[in-house]
Amino acid sequence: MDRTREHLIETYRKKAKHYDITSRLYPVPGYPQRTQRLRAVQALRLRPGDSVIDMACGTGLNFPLLEKVVGPSGRIVGVDLTDAMLVRAQDRIEANGWSNVSLVQADAAGFDFPAGANAILSTYAMTQVPECAEVIAHGAKALSGGGRWVVLDLKVPGNTPGWLAQLGTATVRPFAAIDQWITRRPWETIRAAMQEELTDLSWTELFFGTAFLAAGSRRP
Ligand SMILES: C[S@@+](CC[C@H](N)C(=O)[O-])C[C@H]1O[C@@H](n2cnc3c(N)ncnc32)[C@H](O)[C@@H]1O
Repeated sequence: MDRTREHLIETYRKKAKHYDITSRLYPVPGYPQRTQRLRAVQALRLRPGDSVIDMACGTGLNFPLLEKVVGPSGRIVGVDLTDAMLVRAQDRIEANGWSNVSLVQADAAGFDFPAGANAILSTYAMTQVPECAEVIAHGAKALSGGGRWVVLDLKVPGNTPGWLAQLGTATVRPFAAIDQWITRRPWETIRAAMQEELTDLSWTELFFGTAFLAAGSRRP
């Protein structure tokens, strides 16, 4: 495993225990994260009985929203790289008595998506994955015909000077990674990959351009 991955796992191991509380302040106190999550889940267009993969699911904050739409006959698979985040996700599953949610500890890069899923969701995570374009492509190929791929994540608003972007994102990311994140502009890579791999792509900038919601369907 490379140094970046090890650092990321270490970072999220430290965050896992209090993630559900601290994430309410993410990226800043009062940020409309729940509204954004709801919009992302709506964009999946799920129906009762559908199957959905929550890529980089963390502690499973999306699970209650997904459960509500797929119901007990549906299926949710949560995937994450960090063991400690999955421990919290498992606690959530047991506390709610969900028997249709399973967890996989895996790196999104190189993850073997199960074929035929109705939808894939990723929230506040995909811009942290350097291989995000490959992940989008692999996921798109595994979706059922018409299946939906939805990515919600943070971005730097257009026309923001570099110094201001660094200041604004300093609260969000581990400090050493911010410069690289701003320079890499992963949201553009994600947009291009989704444009390439999916049809009917919609791209919506949220909360003054500080987040994006990208959604597309697998070509029939
Ligand atoms: C900010 S948290 C978001 C968690 C969750 N999706 C949410 O909306 O609350 C980022 C998550 O991405 C996971 N992650 C980062 N890189 C990953 C990768 N390459 N493969 C799988 N998971 C990854 C981390 O372990 C962490 O749980």
